[in-house]
Amino acid sequence: MGEVDPAFVQAIEHRPKVITGLEAGGIPLIDLSLISSQSLEDYFKDHSQAISGVVEQIGGACKDWGFFQVINHGVSSDVRKRVEKVAKVFFDLPLEEKRKVRRDEVNPLGYYDTEHTKNVRDWKEVFDFTVLDPTVIPLSPEPDDQRVREMNNQWPNYPPDLRDVFEEYCRAVEKLAFKLLELISLSLGLPPKRFNDFFKDHTSFIRLNHYPPCPSPHLALGVGRHKDGGALTVLTQDDVGGLEVKRKTDGEWIRVKPIPDSYIINVGDIIQVWSNDRYESVEHRVVVNSERERFSIPFFFNPSHYVMVKPLEELVDKEKQPAKYKEYNWGKFFTTRKLSNFKKLGVENLQISHFKISE
Ligand code: OGA
Ligand code: NI
Repeated sequence: MGEVDPAFVQAIEHRPKVITGLEAGGIPLIDLSLISSQSLEDYFKDHSQAISGVVEQIGGACKDWGFFQVINHGVSSDVRKRVEKVAKVFFDLPLEEKRKVRRDEVNPLGYYDTEHTKNVRDWKEVFDFTVLDPTVIPLSPEPDDQRVREMNNQWPNYPPDLRDVFEEYCRAVEKLAFKLLELISLSLGLPPKRFNDFFKDHTSFIRLNHYPPCPSPHLALGVGRHKDGGALTVLTQDDVGGLEVKRKTDGEWIRVKPIPDSYIINVGDIIQVWSNDRYESVEHRVVVNSERERFSIPFFFNPSHYVMVKPLEELVDKEKQPAKYKEYNWGKFFTTRKLSNFKKLGVENLQISHFKISE
């Protein structure tokens, strides 16, 4: 990527000072070593006391920040290193090679770079693949169209071990995502597996992000401010850093400190709706850097396409806590967003606020 095209210039309304690290009352760091070696359910039977400390920390982090970091989470650093290596090899390939697996209007999976995507203002290139292959989604965003289709991953020929490494990684992070989901469920006072049925045919995907060095980092963002639309995001970033989270208490952008071998977890819009706003999906963005390229790999944990998302009955009380959202279909929400992202219709993306019940 060369000069910053004016189209990349973000509406960065103001850039308040960035507060880094834990000393600034930073993003909570939670140690999962208690539960990383066994199933949460088994553990919960015998050690409900010990685990309640972790559950409490997770609940507090979801409520106060919408973000937290975890260590000792059970995903081996060996598989993570191999993933980082093949991702780097892939992005180093010539553009023509990468574009052999480029996404299009029909298949949203694969490679794209923002220099060749009209009106996308993010300073990065991306490779997407789903965790279940195939993944079933609605054929169209039209509410009355009940037809579905299968999406298939597009794997590049180079590097040859990329597919195996990523498939192994999928299994490991999927396991962690289910554990986190169960901990979050417990933190809301629900049975650990309360959410699991929603993920039987989950539509989760993994994104490899590559942010090249940017000649004018003050003019562009790697990713502009946004919230994640799914249930939960499990992200690994390298040691370059650049992810910033909007602090709930005062709206300041807080830099998330890279911690080796950790994951950054954030609550997405769906957990906000399920929890009837007890937990909120929080805005975040990525700032780029003029010297160093940066890699990050989010796992977007999303329910099955047919799931109707609405506040959980247990968390709703007609008198005291009425439901704050009308129900919506996850698959239709997802395909509407994908389509408008691809076409860049210039209209506002579909948001959960569109389903908010006015008070
Ligand atoms: C995203 C995202 C953060 C990062 O892709 O939704 O927020 O650090 N990425 O790349
Ligand atoms: Ni995000």
